[in-house]
Amino acid sequence: MSETQVNPVNPVPSATSATPAASKATPIPDAAALDAADPLAGLRDRFVLGDGVYLDGNSLGALPAGVPARLADVVAREWGELRIRSWTESGWWIAPERVGDRIAPLVGAAPGQVVVGDSTGVNIFKALVAAVRMAGEGRDEILVDGDTFPTDGYLAASVARMTGRELRRVPAAGIAGAAGPRTAVALVNHVDYRTGELYDAAAITARLHEAGALVVLDLCHSAGALPVRLDADGVDLAVGCGYKYLNGGPGAPAFLYIRAEHQPRFDSPLPGWNSHADPFAMTDDHVPAPGVARGRVGTPDILSMLALEAALEVWEGVDIEAVRAKSLALTDFFLARVEEALPAGTVTSVTPREHDRRGSQVSLRHPAAREVMAELIRRGVVGDFRAPDLLRFGFTPLYTSFTDADRAVRVLAEVLADLPAGTPGGAGA
Ligand SMILES: Cc1ncc(COP(=O)(O)O)c(C=O)c1O
Repeated sequence: MSETQVNPVNPVPSATSATPAASKATPIPDAAALDAADPLAGLRDRFVLGDGVYLDGNSLGALPAGVPARLADVVAREWGELRIRSWTESGWWIAPERVGDRIAPLVGAAPGQVVVGDSTGVNIFKALVAAVRMAGEGRDEILVDGDTFPTDGYLAASVARMTGRELRRVPAAGIAGAAGPRTAVALVNHVDYRTGELYDAAAITARLHEAGALVVLDLCHSAGALPVRLDADGVDLAVGCGYKYLNGGPGAPAFLYIRAEHQPRFDSPLPGWNSHADPFAMTDDHVPAPGVARGRVGTPDILSMLALEAALEVWEGVDIEAVRAKSLALTDFFLARVEEALPAGTVTSVTPREHDRRGSQVSLRHPAAREVMAELIRRGVVGDFRAPDLLRFGFTPLYTSFTDADRAVRVLAEVLADLPAGTPGGAGA
């Protein structure tokens, strides 16, 4: 975890910095001017955004404007009128692979390797067990990022128990180096959900492969936020959320990437009739479907899946490299404004300064973070709180403006100044 004391006197942090924030010599540009020059600014109209500032797209993406009409049509016509005919006539049956192919370019995957369905956790389970089975009996260890999202840790422990492997929790930065001849697979986050730290997927994968181990990459906080290169980086298996930067809606299905060369050996621990080579044969034995469809389980959640599919239309004509450039500009701007507007030492950023180590969020440590975030939300700036002391602000470049970032800092400064005497980290403390 990287920590940077935010200090307005010397806004360039002492931590190694490839991209120093604004200093007194380089005044922070005006938010309105940055918005006027932003080539992605027009994409905001593709979303339903009310008043206030929404910086929680890393938890639940905003509603894309085209989703309500599409869902209304799915319900009224495809379900209401066509009923069961829609499984074929409306393409419901093949939606998991079709929506997967729609996500594929965003994660650097050629078609036929991404399938959509189930929750992220369920897909992590499928991927981990399948990886252990692929690695074979000689490899009796599973590695997991020690600071990982709880679900990932719980599942890794459960899979280890189920498959008779030993689980080792290793800090993310050292996970690839910790792999050895016993390691079957490492479950690694691309971006840390708390700190927003970005890890080098290519380097981690290469190091794990040198040790003869497989990687399962959790893309929840990178898919749709920054370029992901699953094919080019040699990633074996990956999973990601549909409801964060992909804006698929609450509880949107997740996605599972199964590298083409691994598909024939992908032995799912959750085989169902939907992953059968001939689902309607209704045979006693499970014969896995060829291709990525073997990552399916049961009847897909069509309403959520088609909401996600409609949400993905916002990516039409959008270059993910431009999204990354804007994300970094937004987080640079936010950090610089925090340094400028807040008294020295009020908050501590745990998000790396270096561009190549930063995802698309900024997390600030404050002892009264829970109370501060509650008050920010009350005043119209929505981020979130992560225990015990983090204020988390997500930047979704498709709809977050520099003016939003600026307003968030202004309100944060007001909230901190107004903290009642005696509050930890408050004016009277
Ligand atoms: C990094 C990470 N992994 C896994 C999950 C679990 O996702 P789900 O609740 O969809 O199973 C989340 C949810 O936020 C997450 O952020």
